[in-house]
Amino acid sequence: MIRELVYGSVAVVLFAYAVEFGFSIGDDPREPPRVRSTIPLIGHVLGILKGGPTHYTKTGKSTPSEIHTLGVFNYKIYVSTSSRLLPIIQKQSKSLSFRPFLQITARKHGDASDETYAIFGGTLPDELSNVVRLSLAPGPYLDDQNMRMGKRVQVEVDALLGRGSTKQINLLEWSRHIVVQSSSCGVYGDQHPLMDPEVEKSFWDWQNYLTAHLAGVDFLGKGYAARQKVYDAYIKYFKEFPVDGSQLAREHQRMIREAGIGELDNAKQASLFTIAVFSNTAPTLYWTLWEIFSRPQILEEIRQELRAHAVSGSKNGGFVLNVSALKTQSPLLVSVFQETQRTRHVNASFRQVMTDTLLDGKYLLKAGNFLQMPGEPIHANTSIWGPTALEFDPYRFLSKGIPQGGFVGFGSPPHLCPARQFASTEIFIIAALLIMRADMLPVAGAWDKAPALNYSDLSTLLNPKRDVKVEVKAREAWAGEWTLKMGESRTRIPLASG
Ligand code: HEM
Ligand SMILES: *[C@@H]1O[C@H](CO)[C@@H](O)[C@H](O)[C@H]1NC(C)=O
Ligand SMILES: *[C@@H]1O[C@H](CO)[C@@H](O)[C@H](O)[C@H]1NC(C)=O
Ligand SMILES: *[C@@H]1O[C@H](CO)[C@@H](O)[C@H](O)[C@H]1NC(C)=O
Ligand SMILES: *[C@@H]1O[C@H](CO)[C@@H](O)[C@H](O)[C@H]1NC(C)=O
Repeated sequence: MIRELVYGSVAVVLFAYAVEFGFSIGDDPREPPRVRSTIPLIGHVLGILKGGPTHYTKTGKSTPSEIHTLGVFNYKIYVSTSSRLLPIIQKQSKSLSFRPFLQITARKHGDASDETYAIFGGTLPDELSNVVRLSLAPGPYLDDQNMRMGKRVQVEVDALLGRGSTKQINLLEWSRHIVVQSSSCGVYGDQHPLMDPEVEKSFWDWQNYLTAHLAGVDFLGKGYAARQKVYDAYIKYFKEFPVDGSQLAREHQRMIREAGIGELDNAKQASLFTIAVFSNTAPTLYWTLWEIFSRPQILEEIRQELRAHAVSGSKNGGFVLNVSALKTQSPLLVSVFQETQRTRHVNASFRQVMTDTLLDGKYLLKAGNFLQMPGEPIHANTSIWGPTALEFDPYRFLSKGIPQGGFVGFGSPPHLCPARQFASTEIFIIAALLIMRADMLPVAGAWDKAPALNYSDLSTLLNPKRDVKVEVKAREAWAGEWTLKMGESRTRIPLASG
């Protein structure tokens, strides 16, 4: 019996090698070199399941080439690990396209009907991308959106620190909560769809099922049930679109309606958009707070920086946080924020190869396959960032010599995140208020040196595997009334990506 099993397995393995060899016979010598897995056919799938986009960092290290090929059955994933190729790839957005994925997500996460799915295969994604970019550009629309976001941040921080109390919170859970509430007030108005804690919780439950839904394997339907609660909240919200909804929400909805998509599918697609709104901001806020509060000396330096330029007033007369000054005169906060993104960014941008493409005159990418551009190999590349590339250097972004194209935390031009100023402003205000008004320490006594990460996540920064319970203690000298002076969104945070 055992003997049969052993022979059987050997036969299966030999067969798999033979099949894989068969698939690679058709390779063109101009295609990027293959990196083979020790397990044939499905080795890379297992690697990606286990390590997420960090699998590509591993495969990239085993080849000197700036782009390599991974075989998965008869498909190929081309993986570009080079910042040099990024602009060349971005320029070929017709043949190396992101659009097929948008259509798939409209179906898998937005439950698109056949008609809606077909519409998403046309020009709608490009039109949406355009209105989203215009609505989020610094100017009067973003001023309004920032104003509502800032007000809600204040409410949430006051609730946490009210009357100089000490509280215990789970830092990730709290970061998610304040991001959902504040971003939603900004984008959807003060009466937004996620006000109900039940809907907020359903949103995060749904996020745990994104991969399962792409694969269509949510057999118990728990993820679909959570998603339905979010859909229902948006269906109700759009019945009476409030006057204080942002230009972004209004235009997004108008484009979809004018493309011929009905009310129900429109609300579902709007629910899908919230994934972009919350899912990257929350972990970025979490890690920014984590990196600052776990470094007492950096925390103190940022406090001095804020006191010198961005904070005024007194305990009795009330304090004011000047957001324009926060954005432009807090270089250490800007640096720590971006270093957090640089060291923790893993998200890979994907493209589908639509037609055979000769990249940079030398690498042939064949139609029907996929291209991935993970950020981590670029952020960890010592030729770009120097010998300390793998270390967290809080001062790194203070220097003028930030390598051109070496930072991809918000993507790479021309496909930069259109909300980068909005999201960064939100994170800055929350961080500044906590930095000035509170001390924070893990209940366990010390910050974990290397917390475990959840590699099954799809966000740009991986979430921690376990939340950290922290004690938040209001600082006596800074207790009192706090207000925000928002200023204009045209005053930008000097991000490396602009
Ligand atoms: C710190 C928080 C955020 C990070 C790190 C982030 C990161 C990114 C990245 C890397 C991309 C490019 C993806 C690619 O090229 O494949 C992107 C695109 C996008 N992001 Fe963000 N994002 C954040 C917050 C937000 C927020 C708050 C919103 C909405 C209010 C948003 C809306 C979008 C949209 C709509 C796109 C697609 C743009 C297009 O049409 O090409 N993001 N984001
Ligand atoms: C690191 O960057 C350099 C310079 O851009 C590039 O030549 C090299 O291929 C990169 N290394 C990896 C492993 O991608
Ligand atoms: C890790 O992320 C996956 C996918 O989002 C989720 O299903 C799982 O519950 C998460 N694991 C932990 C320990 O948080
Ligand atoms: C806020 O800071 C900006 C930039 O430093 C400055 O121009 C402005 O006068 C300040 N506003 C207030 C009300 O202090
Ligand atoms: C990376 O982030 C972008 C923007 O949020 C998202 O559209 C894309 O699906 C993410 N990619 C991966 C591999 O998670």
